[in-house]
Amino acid sequence: MQTIGEELIEGLYERACRCIPGGVNSPVRAFYEMEMPPLMAARGLGPWMWDHQGRRYLDLCMSWGALPFGHAHPAVVEAACAQICRGSSFGLATESEIRLAEKVCSHYPSIDKVRFVSSGTEAVMSALRLARGFTGREQVIKFSGHYHGHSDALLVRAGSSVSYLAEASSRGVTQGTVQDTLTLSFGEREELERLLASEKVAAVIVEPVAANMGVVPPAPGYLDFLREVTRRYGTLLIFDEVITGYRVALGGAQELYRVTADLTCLGKIVGGGLPAAAFGGREEIMDLLAPLGPVFQAGTLSGNPVAMETGLVTLSMLEQPGIYEAWRQLAARLTGPLRGGPIALHEVGPLCSLFFGIQSPSCWEEVVKLDRDRYRRFFKFMLNNSIYLPPSAYEAWFPSLVHPPEELDRVADLVKEFISTNS
Ligand SMILES: Cc1ncc(COP(=O)(O)O)c(C=O)c1O
Repeated sequence: MQTIGEELIEGLYERACRCIPGGVNSPVRAFYEMEMPPLMAARGLGPWMWDHQGRRYLDLCMSWGALPFGHAHPAVVEAACAQICRGSSFGLATESEIRLAEKVCSHYPSIDKVRFVSSGTEAVMSALRLARGFTGREQVIKFSGHYHGHSDALLVRAGSSVSYLAEASSRGVTQGTVQDTLTLSFGEREELERLLASEKVAAVIVEPVAANMGVVPPAPGYLDFLREVTRRYGTLLIFDEVITGYRVALGGAQELYRVTADLTCLGKIVGGGLPAAAFGGREEIMDLLAPLGPVFQAGTLSGNPVAMETGLVTLSMLEQPGIYEAWRQLAARLTGPLRGGPIALHEVGPLCSLFFGIQSPSCWEEVVKLDRDRYRRFFKFMLNNSIYLPPSAYEAWFPSLVHPPEELDRVADLVKEFISTNS
């Protein structure tokens, strides 16, 4: 392992800052909230990630949930290399995308047809356009603290790193764009029903398990309520399963909670760690897309064959019987010892987070009161012990299937040590 000096790593960040805004290509990576220079990844293998100084970390962020089998899994590497040797992009239909589409449709009964894009942002943005095209209505309802990527219409009271902005939405987003985006608190019923009754709402979009304000599962029965009330008023229900898809179950949150969405957005795992995402739903809705219908959507690298092949091999591995139970049990090596402790813990399968300084929250309005300063100290304590957690108090943790159980035990011990010495 080649190690380069402290001065050089600083040099790297300085170089990055000279040619890339904030030195990063996605804000959370700059570690501003952690008040320290960012880590710069040099390589990864399985559950481990190395920085440019040769320090090894147990990675509990895992490319924000895109890597259920860890870094550089041999089967994923082989699939990617083989496809690159056959050609990395054609801008034409390929067999790989058909095979991946067939798989996605078989895993998600609510999806008759699916279209692949390159990012979760694109998937959600396109699903929304389609919902508007299908219903002929303009308004959409989202929930505060839920993050659906960075398209203009959805940058309103969003979670994830948007929540660090001082304003309710990003500058550069016009009033005109967001005037049709209505935001409610996750769990809200009466106001939602009142808005739907106007019959102007094209879609309600929800992270069925919110995972960009820490992990906040839906209140019991809430997803059923959303299903029933949207159907009653002719509004489409969009599940943004960019995080929960293929993580909380093969069929995502809709399988876990037995609720059927009209449109589903997938990302992260569906591309096996390469840039791919998808949106899909009932045939009558999906067939409105060009070239069949009047709703336009396109992409040079959409359905990119390398990402389709890495997605295919990843989903095939996730089809192994019992794997989700094994994953849940493995993650419980980390969460089990922390349950019932002084710090609120939320977990849904291999997706979890801790909330410092507040009781178990159910919506953004409660999450926002958490103790960010304490999380920052916690993050640094863990990093000094070679554990890399998300550099933000509002992000979920993503234990993979390849984290050694004894390492997860060590993480739990360290969390307890921090809590006992930093109360
Ligand atoms: C629920 C959810 N939707 C959409 C997105 C946007 O995906 P991407 O970052 O691939 O554009 C994210 C990203 O984290 C997400 O968590």
